Amino acid sequence: MRRKLVAGNWKMNGSLAANAALLAGIKAESAGSRCDVAVCVPAPYLAQCQSLLVDSPIALGAQDVSMHESGAYTGEVSAAMLREFDCRYVIVGHSERRSYFGESDALVASKTLRALASGLIPIVCVGESLAQREAGQTEAVVLMQLDAVLKQLPVDDVSRIVVAYEPVWAIGTGRTATPEMAQEVHAVLRERLAQISEAAAAEVKILYGGSMKPDNAAELMAMQDIDGGLIGGAALKVADFLAIVSKV
Ligand code: 13P
Repeated sequence: MRRKLVAGNWKMNGSLAANAALLAGIKAESAGSRCDVAVCVPAPYLAQCQSLLVDSPIALGAQDVSMHESGAYTGEVSAAMLREFDCRYVIVGHSERRSYFGESDALVASKTLRALASGLIPIVCVGESLAQREAGQTEAVVLMQLDAVLKQLPVDDVSRIVVAYEPVWAIGTGRTATPEMAQEVHAVLRERLAQISEAAAAEVKILYGGSMKPDNAAELMAMQDIDGGLIGGAALKVADFLAIVSKV
């Protein structure tokens, strides 16, 4: 049985004061939760959040990582740096990075490899746009995104990733995939993992992301292949995030 994971993606939100309040609230109430809990915070706040999460079961994550190991790459943050702040997870290939910053499937694959090489767990995001869904291309799009990563990974490393299915049309829109729609895509993704390794497919968590809220989290996470959530807006409110965690 895969343990579920609820991860907050704070995106470019927060301040020293707001982060402290948010983490204090989450920490106080999430002890003893039945799932793994993580927060993926903006890079400048890693040190703050690391120290606020000492002795807490809540894991720390980042939202992006460089494909390069180190060197003259102005503005980039390396996987080794993230590890120094006790990051356990890093999101790679979020649709906002793909669409606003031109990240290609190949770059996402390189970032995934770099994260794994440093001992981070990459949360590899895939998802189709509304136009792609309406054109019946959902499966083809998400499989192409996943395959770009899988073809670079040694088979033994496949079980070390987390996948997040985030339909672009559901992100920040309040429009969520129905549990059945999401399950259908999750099953396709798991089937592809199984073609490489049955054991890995049984182990890899596949999260759903896109307007997951307290009122739809339970039914989404009840689906067979949905192993948790990657939460945007609702991760910025203590009560909402905790309510989602409690639905597991
Ligand atoms: P929302 O929950 O705000 O739709 O964002 C989802 C997301 O992009 C998480 O990575």
